Amino acid sequence: MASEVVRHAVRASRLSSPRRLAAAVLPRPLRTRRLTLRQATADDAEATFEYRRLETVSRWLNEHPTDLRTYEAAFGDPARLATTLVIDLGGRTIGDFVLRVEDAFAQAEVVGQARSTQAELGWVLDPAYTGQGYATETIVELLRYCFEDLGVRRVIASAFADNDASRRLMARVGMRCEAYLVRDALHRSGQWLDTVNYAILGDDWATRAVKASAHGLPGRPPRSR
Ligand SMILES: CC(C)(COP(=O)(O)OP(=O)(O)OC[C@H]1O[C@@H](n2cnc3c(N)ncnc32)[C@H](O)[C@@H]1OP(=O)(O)O)[C@@H](O)C(=O)NCCC(=O)NCCS
Repeated sequence: MASEVVRHAVRASRLSSPRRLAAAVLPRPLRTRRLTLRQATADDAEATFEYRRLETVSRWLNEHPTDLRTYEAAFGDPARLATTLVIDLGGRTIGDFVLRVEDAFAQAEVVGQARSTQAELGWVLDPAYTGQGYATETIVELLRYCFEDLGVRRVIASAFADNDASRRLMARVGMRCEAYLVRDALHRSGQWLDTVNYAILGDDWATRAVKASAHGLPGRPPRSR
């Protein structure tokens, strides 16, 4: 749930490029201790609809799908599939994540240097699988992938301020709250709600990864550059 004006403008300019739309963000699956993360396909629509249609899940999401056919059409959009990952636990789809690589804001003279330097994450878990660290495990691996493999310098995420589970999750993986926006987003309930923007820099992550490794937590030391 992005909310920065600059970010929208940057994304709009990226979306005007059909070549970028087609590029899958995860060419090969990633594996963690318990999970497999892979690029979504149109065939994942039904499994993700099963939990996304629940009000408790969609409460903080951009859409609340109620009809499978309509949802399949939206989910199968190539632009959406290109940035959607699903997580499998023993062959069962238990969640879907967004990973979107984007250009950071830059002044005109240095715009080329800011291309694809930032990534945005989003997440949804089937409520039958929350409370067991699966989202944390996924994000730790996606941060590694973003910083080590994609080479971005900053990873961002945003949420409604009252989404406590998401805020705990972002803090748990080392993201910092950079902005608290007051009543800037209209919820489907009709209320204007506060939102929060979180981020982590590659440097923060490298330090945290070393600490996490030393304490036996998820995470791993960065490669030497
Ligand atoms: C946001 C969301 C993904 C968080 O799910 P989650 O289950 O809380 O996150 P995790 O899978 O990382 O599990 C962490 C929880 O399990 C516990 N846990 C158990 N075993 C764990 C382990 N091995 N590692 C880490 N945490 C573990 C943690 O203590 C934590 O519980 P707490 O937050 O009550 O302290 C989930 O609530 C969701 O899908 N919500 C609906 C959609 C949504 O809001 N999306 C985000 C929009 S911005």
